[in-house]
Amino acid sequence: MTKEQYYALIHPYSDAASLVLARLDVLNHQAGDQEESRPIHGISSRIKDKASIEQKLKKKHAGESPEDAKALLHDIAGIRVICFFERDIRHLADCLKKQSDLIIIKEKDYINTPKSNGYRSYHLILGVPIYYMDGMEYYPVEIQFRTISMDFWAAMEHRICYKNQPFNEMEMRSAFRQYSEILEGMEKSFEVYSENNR
Ligand code: GTP
Ligand code: MG
Repeated sequence: MTKEQYYALIHPYSDAASLVLARLDVLNHQAGDQEESRPIHGISSRIKDKASIEQKLKKKHAGESPEDAKALLHDIAGIRVICFFERDIRHLADCLKKQSDLIIIKEKDYINTPKSNGYRSYHLILGVPIYYMDGMEYYPVEIQFRTISMDFWAAMEHRICYKNQPFNEMEMRSAFRQYSEILEGMEKSFEVYSENNR
């Protein structure tokens, strides 16, 4: 893929992500006038860079053309929404899913069913309509909803386990699973306090 092909490829993905970001912003503001009652703690977004796209296609034993990327990758546009509590995630995701022009491509609930390493997060891939002069096409945007504690865990796990294969892997896995449960417990306690103070 040439640089020019890459930029042409990502353009509509970037437009699709902007649209979802704007919708999330509106939902966040609707939660109340007071900043303390807003469900979103922070949002980040990224467009997969050229090298990562090529690397992922290679891993899938596919070609490296823009057409291959379009056909095989659902995470060229990615948004991470960090919420305070699980109830915020459920509320935001439900609201987005109800927006009638968006389609649900894929949903993975690693909150109800955490991964065996302890990873917790709610992943939603939405199809966003992009209108051209002569038609419309859906572009996927991957949204990862996490609470602050899920994000803390995932960032640490990514840093410590993802790239380097730790030498004491079994021990680490069991420790990370435990930390995931401890964090979940802490978060649930905070959630109870927050309910009581509403
Ligand atoms: P990818 O090929 O990585 O996109 O995985 P997938 O297509 O099976 O999708 P999945 O929804 O499982 O994971 C998508 C993204 O979630 C990953 O790219 C990571 O950003 C994040 N993720 C998934 N599993 C883990 C994990 O065990 N640890 C951490 N830190 N992040 C994870
Ligand atoms: Mg991915």
